[in-house]
Amino acid sequence: MIIQDPATAEYPSMPASLAPTSVDIIARIDAIGPLLHELVTGAYTPALPDEERLLTTFLDDLRARTGIDFSAYKRPTILRRLQRRMAATRTERLRDYLRFTAKHPEEYQRLTSSFLIKVTEFFRDPELFDKLRDEILPGIIEEAREGGREIRLWSAGCATGEEAYSLAILVHEAIGGEIEDWTVRVFATDLDGEAVTFARRGIYPAASFQHLPPELVARHFSKLDGEYEVRSHIRALVVFGQHDLALRAPFPRIDLVLCRNVLIYFTAELQRRALQLFAFSLRDGGWLALGKAETTSPLAAHFVVEDARLKLFRRRGERALIAPFRLRDPATAAVMAGRQAHLPTAVALAAVDPEPRARPSIKAEIAVAALPVGVVLVDGSYDIESINPAARRVLGVHGSAIGQDLIHLVRGVPTDQLRRAIDEALGGRPGSVTVRLTGAPPGEDAGWLEITTQPAHD
Ligand SMILES: C[S@@+](CC[C@H](N)C(=O)[O-])C[C@H]1O[C@@H](n2cnc3c(N)ncnc32)[C@H](O)[C@@H]1O
Repeated sequence: MIIQDPATAEYPSMPASLAPTSVDIIARIDAIGPLLHELVTGAYTPALPDEERLLTTFLDDLRARTGIDFSAYKRPTILRRLQRRMAATRTERLRDYLRFTAKHPEEYQRLTSSFLIKVTEFFRDPELFDKLRDEILPGIIEEAREGGREIRLWSAGCATGEEAYSLAILVHEAIGGEIEDWTVRVFATDLDGEAVTFARRGIYPAASFQHLPPELVARHFSKLDGEYEVRSHIRALVVFGQHDLALRAPFPRIDLVLCRNVLIYFTAELQRRALQLFAFSLRDGGWLALGKAETTSPLAAHFVVEDARLKLFRRRGERALIAPFRLRDPATAAVMAGRQAHLPTAVALAAVDPEPRARPSIKAEIAVAALPVGVVLVDGSYDIESINPAARRVLGVHGSAIGQDLIHLVRGVPTDQLRRAIDEALGGRPGSVTVRLTGAPPGEDAGWLEITTQPAHD
């Protein structure tokens, strides 16, 4: 989408009201005509062998900067999007564009955002949502009721949140007045941080609701200066987070994964990896909805086809293992290892387990409580199962804290780093976070905090 630069528009609120994630190019009105011409005349194609090499090196550089490996995305999409950014920056050859990015580093972020296509809408593909409402969700709710379990759904690649809120609305409508007695979690994740921030805000323009029955809008949204805000009873069901399907461990014990219009952008290798992740994530009998646009299918060893046209699958068969997660940047690990020699002894150890576990024995709890090292046990949803006094002190955790999300309780540790380290442990490998502490009296060094994470097995 191209919009007029709000700074030069007669009515700036019009272009400014669009989700930043839906806008590709912001330009002066007189520049829009030539831009359109360039865009319709095709995608950028690396013409010379050295241009192909240049592009590969550039994608490597982008990975080092952003942690995202776009070489695992389909090349034609990447080239089309690159062409858009080249047109927007008025650069003709890749070499010129690279010079431009070197001078304007903010362009890396724009290009990354442009590579991640975020088109979405509420109840996109009504046929699938009818099926979810009439067959799949009632089944999941019934099984959860019988088993006394929580309901755990995952919108993977949720973009600006419409899919996740649509799911939450369906569950709320199905459970009705009893919802207070249930634990429902709709995990909603995307690689694009800006999209997740927009989704979490939960405010959408009126045009988003064209295909929604007005009574549904009235029940679940409040009007706010011409826009609509998701009401708190729906928000409370959705947990948003930034998550890379290529690198991060999945959520365990999921009843339904919705991953639509995401895998179509991945190469076959990355598609396989994501599908393996879902096989690990889903409980036996759990559902995977890939959506009509998808051309790939999950492995027959882990899934059976329920509806080939809607691309609906059910988890069956062998236990799925996930391959170890690659570190975003091996250089970071080396730097951390080097620094560890100089760390003070303020160490917290977080141990995690993706499966429900027996509580530690009383004896074990007493022993852990006496340790000078902080120890926290969290489950696969990052919720605290046990925490000793040293960990409370070091991490600034007060109150009971049991059952609460560790990531959001701790003070002074970047949440994304902590989550990543725990995800490492969920994937079966140790992880770590090293943080420089602040708040020491003038002239003194507050030191470092090192958190290591380990998988915990019974
Ligand atoms: C077209 S949107 C799909 C939105 C929604 N699922 C739907 O079908 O309406 C694709 C989303 O996938 C996200 N995405 C791309 N690569 C990803 C990755 N490696 N991990 C997680 N999300 C990713 C993009 O950021 C984008 O928001």
